[in-house]
Amino acid sequence: MKVGVLISGRGSNLQALIDACAEADFPAEIVTVISNRPNVGGLELAEAAGIPHQVINHKDFEDRESFDGALDEALQAAGVELICSAGFMRILTDGFVEKWRNKQLNIHPSLLPSFKGLHVHERSIEAGVRISGCTVHFVRAEMDDGPIVAQAAVPVHSDDTASTLAARILVAEHKIYPLALKLVAEGKARVVGEKVVFSGLDETEEAPVLSHPQ
Ligand code: GAR
Repeated sequence: MKVGVLISGRGSNLQALIDACAEADFPAEIVTVISNRPNVGGLELAEAAGIPHQVINHKDFEDRESFDGALDEALQAAGVELICSAGFMRILTDGFVEKWRNKQLNIHPSLLPSFKGLHVHERSIEAGVRISGCTVHFVRAEMDDGPIVAQAAVPVHSDDTASTLAARILVAEHKIYPLALKLVAEGKARVVGEKVVFSGLDETEEAPVLSHPQ
């Protein structure tokens, strides 16, 4: 499956996907990396991996529709079949989201549907939750909403700061995003009635999908 990765920054999830795709028999390949911000770390990671990459700067566009139109054009030109948003911090128009319905994944650093949006870790700590985590989901028009493919639970320690919690969750993100991509690319995770239905999971896949990834 041909994958386009959308980024806005550092790109550590992009790197996790690059590493997974480099493995023999992995059912997906990254054909393009697109950033809406210039000079971000993720672009260097794509360059180092020899993956075509480009900047489509949202500041160069008058409105969201024209930015999303350029994004769509670039993805189509690269032959993308599935989008993976990986730290892509732009809200997409309903038209774009509908066009890529069930063909776009996102990762978010909370156990959705809790703590959608920004400042997730600050708000998690403020709320006093003892467990947080991360979620890979299909994208819908509402931000950080959509059928869930994989989640990982991560403990919140009493002395955590937003940055220590973010770092702990990021380790889990790097495990579940490649797993979720693999299951979607193999057709083992499919959207049915706004939920993800799994089929044909092997022993190594079942436990990580249902609980904490090993
Ligand atoms: C990740 O923690 C990702 O879950 C989060 O941004 C970070 C990007 O890091 N995404 C969101 O908050 C989207 N709502 P990365 O650039 O190193 O992958």
